Amino acid sequence: MLVYVGRRKPFSSVSERARPPSDCFVLWSTFVWLYAKRGVYALASHLKPLNHQSLIIPNMSSSIQSVCVLGAGTMGRGIAQVAALAGCRVTLYDIADDILDAALARIRASIDKGVSLGKTEPETAARAKEAIALTTDLAQAARADLIIEAAPEKMELKQSIFRELDAHAAEHTLFASNTSSLSITALAAATQRPDRFLGLHFFNPAHIMKLVEVIRGDMTADETIETGLAFARELGKTPVLCQDTPAFIVNRVARPFYGEALRMLGEGQADVETIDRLMESIGFRMGPFRLIDLIGCDVNFAVTQTVYEAYFHDPKYRPHPIQRKMVESGRLGRKVGIGFYDYRDELT
Ligand SMILES: NC(=O)c1ccc[n+]([C@@H]2O[C@H](COP(=O)([O-])OP(=O)(O)OC[C@H]3O[C@@H](n4cnc5c(N)ncnc54)[C@H](O)[C@@H]3O)[C@@H](O)[C@H]2O)c1
Repeated sequence: MLVYVGRRKPFSSVSERARPPSDCFVLWSTFVWLYAKRGVYALASHLKPLNHQSLIIPNMSSSIQSVCVLGAGTMGRGIAQVAALAGCRVTLYDIADDILDAALARIRASIDKGVSLGKTEPETAARAKEAIALTTDLAQAARADLIIEAAPEKMELKQSIFRELDAHAAEHTLFASNTSSLSITALAAATQRPDRFLGLHFFNPAHIMKLVEVIRGDMTADETIETGLAFARELGKTPVLCQDTPAFIVNRVARPFYGEALRMLGEGQADVETIDRLMESIGFRMGPFRLIDLIGCDVNFAVTQTVYEAYFHDPKYRPHPIQRKMVESGRLGRKVGIGFYDYRDELT
């Protein structure tokens, strides 16, 4: 099967368009626009978002003063950044020092960008940079009021991380997963604290996107949900309470967007660029392949597989072989420089 690798900005209609602060912001904005009328985002519209970058909250009313973020990848970096800017002490955990060092450099550069754009006060930026500590020691990472896990989208891996953390963390520590699709109830069952376990699903890029899905597992206590909602607001986010159903709200609604595009590509009806360009021309600010590249082909494939399994192989959620080939060949998207498009010139 041939998978087309296109140029990043192939059409003048795309390149001439005013570029937004973030591609994913733009795409998800489109989702907001397209689905707001159907009520999905109406849930959030009555909540008042705050300006995330300029927010200074020395005393966090949710009682969350210290946060540990597990996984310093695409999402972990953004969550750590926004938590530090909001006044939390942040510990960033990953499995290797070089990953952590690279992540910290990127977080600092992103904070500096906020200052240069006038969105962040220099003092807030300096304090946030100082507030982030790095560790590869899980016992040390466990010392926080709230632990937000942003490790790869694999049930067994996440459960084993939480099981180990549970042995080290203080009783009051809340556990949260940033999973895109996995059962919060099943993750919580790996611990002795299912009542103090919730889903906090940030969107990419986490330091810009306002929406946070707050997911209640079957055993999650009301108090835990209230703290999660308050914490998200303190970060300047717009929290929306969701039930613990596969892929929650946004990622479930988005499944057919990717699925049909992949099927069309597989059938040879249109290529990557044509599908993206046409979807963008009717109002989607980013086509399905550009978005998969931003999310990560591995993450997108894992989410599709989870939803397919969770709905007992309902064919409408069936993954496509192209997704598997992209992952097997290492074309994971922007984060590695190549996916459906080629971004390698941006990395140099
Ligand atoms: N990428 C997105 O757009 C997006 C959006 C929302 C939620 N999510 C979810 O966030 C989570 C992370 O996704 P991502 O895109 O940041 O992935 P990523 O691949 O960019 O980063 C994952 C990080 O986890 C680290 N890691 C590996 N093993 C680990 C372990 N045992 N303990 C701790 N860290 C470990 C990796 O070294 C890497 O730095 C997933 O559950 C994903 O579904 C992703």
